[in-house]
Amino acid sequence: MEMWLFSAWDLLAFLTLLSSTVAGEELFDVTVWPEWPTVEAGHALWINCSTNCTHPEKGGIETRNINKAVWKEETHWKAFYLADIAQDSHIICYFTCSGTQKKKSANITVYRPPEQVIFNLQPAWVIVGKNFTLTCHVPNVGPLENLTLTLLQGTEMLHRQTFKTVSKVLQDAWLVFNVTARKEDDKSNFSCYAELDLRPHSEHFFNASSALKMLEIFEPSQNNQMLITIIITTLLLLIFVVTVCLCFVYGQHWRKQRTGGYGVLAAWRIHRNRCV
Ligand SMILES: *[C@@H]1O[C@H](CO)[C@@H](O)[C@H](O)[C@H]1NC(C)=O
Ligand SMILES: *[C@@H]1O[C@H](CO)[C@@H](O)[C@H](O)[C@H]1NC(C)=O
Ligand SMILES: *[C@@H]1O[C@H](CO)[C@@H](O)[C@H](O)[C@H]1NC(C)=O
Ligand SMILES: *[C@@H]1O[C@H](CO)[C@@H](O)[C@H](O)[C@H]1NC(C)=O
Ligand SMILES: *[C@@H]1O[C@H](CO)[C@@H](O)[C@H](O)[C@H]1NC(C)=O
Ligand SMILES: *[C@@H]1O[C@H](CO)[C@@H](O)[C@H](O)[C@H]1NC(C)=O
Repeated sequence: MEMWLFSAWDLLAFLTLLSSTVAGEELFDVTVWPEWPTVEAGHALWINCSTNCTHPEKGGIETRNINKAVWKEETHWKAFYLADIAQDSHIICYFTCSGTQKKKSANITVYRPPEQVIFNLQPAWVIVGKNFTLTCHVPNVGPLENLTLTLLQGTEMLHRQTFKTVSKVLQDAWLVFNVTARKEDDKSNFSCYAELDLRPHSEHFFNASSALKMLEIFEPSQNNQMLITIIITTLLLLIFVVTVCLCFVYGQHWRKQRTGGYGVLAAWRIHRNRCV
């Protein structure tokens, strides 16, 4: 009977301990701020890791490839200055409270605003019905998933592209687009417009435009066709005349040579006759 009682007390103590541990775990939270850290390539960022645990024991952040030498702290938070961030990375913020550790992670997004928008139109003049190529190049920009390039004809949108499925390491955006020339495109100004949109996680939105490039359309008209016909006819006539002249000159030359030959032969015959 005494053994039974002891066991019951033991069980009760164990259950109390268990429930208090579970309650302790639920009592505190870890927060990382900003929740969606965004930073320009090569720049620095403050990351604040905090908790609402009443008496936190240990806390901090874990990073890879980032120097976090400087920090500020108080009992419930630790803020780290991350310098010279070159690439996207993962950080883990942690705090220990009554022997239990809790973590919260965040991903740092590194961006490069579009600065240069290089636009080309080739060829600069084109015949109606033929294709011309528009090329837009934005060097050193990212993340490409958040970049949109728009090709404009005047103020009208011709083509728009967002780089959804692109490798993380690429930092150059290229857009090549072919258009068939129409008569009404003559003297049109084409350009390229780049937008890097990092909202709503961050407030950053950048845009940049290329210089204008003017297209000239060449239309083969009736007059032009007449001109071409005249040029070709003249050329053919010229070739004919030259050929006739050459034939005549060579013919004369050949005949002279032949007569000359007879002359020599005749002279020899005369000479032989004389000798005989
Ligand atoms: C900490 O925050 C969490 C969630 O907001 C809450 O459930 C918990 O009670 C809080 N703990 C303290 C000690 O304030
Ligand atoms: C870090 O966050 C805590 C809780 O939100 C705040 O009280 C504290 O001022 C912040 N520290 C810095 C340096 O921003
Ligand atoms: C930026 O790209 C990320 C990753 O693809 C995506 O989750 C996010 O919604 C994009 N933001 C905008 C504004 O397009
Ligand atoms: C555009 O035209 C050029 C030359 O005609 C061709 O080489 C290229 O593949 C075309 N590009 C696209 C995207 O159609
Ligand atoms: C010209 O461009 C159009 C699209 O604008 C394309 O369908 C066509 O195949 C291209 N023609 C040539 C010869 O490249
Ligand atoms: C294109 O731009 C030039 C100079 O910037 C301007 O003179 C011309 O009117 C423009 N063409 C059109 C069709 O807007």
